[in-house]
Amino acid sequence: MVRDPKYDILFEPIRIGPKTMHNRFWQTTHCLGPGSERPGAQAAYRGMKAEGGWAAVFTEFCSVHPESDEYPFISARLWDKGDIINLGLMCDSVHQHGGLAGVQLWYGGMHSICMESREVPRSASSLPSNLVPCRNAYSSEADVDDIKAIINMYVEAGKRAVQAGFDILEVSGGDSTIPIQFLDHRYNHRTDAYGGTFEKRARFYLELMHALKKACGNDAAVTTASKSTH
Ligand SMILES: Cc1cc2nc3c(=O)[nH]c(=O)nc-3n(C[C@H](O)[C@H](O)[C@H](O)COP(=O)(O)O)c2cc1C
Repeated sequence: MVRDPKYDILFEPIRIGPKTMHNRFWQTTHCLGPGSERPGAQAAYRGMKAEGGWAAVFTEFCSVHPESDEYPFISARLWDKGDIINLGLMCDSVHQHGGLAGVQLWYGGMHSICMESREVPRSASSLPSNLVPCRNAYSSEADVDDIKAIINMYVEAGKRAVQAGFDILEVSGGDSTIPIQFLDHRYNHRTDAYGGTFEKRARFYLELMHALKKACGNDAAVTTASKSTH
């Protein structure tokens, strides 16, 4: 079958930050079950997508710190050296077929049930989760030092992602993750420099993106995706 030339552009390379995709096919983040703990399955599946032609192949959402864990549900994690080794296998597998490996950096705030780490997540405000009907899901309100600490969790996880071999670092700004918990007045009840007007509510998200780009932008493309927000 002859391809309609109007689709040719989909097969052309495109630059994204310091990286180049060999075509425009982008496999968005989606959960499969392997996370960081079943590295063979993670590497085999994502490698198969790259072999099939996708130029960018992503993990599922990936926790940046034990303060945001989904146990007993499975997500990828970039908490330590073990996770770097495990997710590094996926990167190798995607690279073998010419693809770029992407990871979605995630901090769930009040929606993280933290049943493994038993940590209390921080967020824009101290609220119970309206998504997870579980008494464990709630947050404490972040002060300005806490905000710096959360941004630093993303930066450190971003550096671990680069060490693992990831080419694209995507900040999850969907599913009511913490950038949305600052941006959305339903979650953000603050009256300081991070709450109130739209500009103030956007401050956390912008500071986060700038910090990540400054730390990792020479080694990886830094992006964000806002979708399926509850
Ligand atoms: C099983 C499954 C798991 C998903 N996991 C994530 C995820 O971890 N993070 C995310 O941002 N989106 C996730 N998504 C959303 C997809 O990335 C995508 O946005 C959605 O499926 C819509 O794209 P489509 O219209 O091409 O199906 C998931 C979707 C599915 C079906």
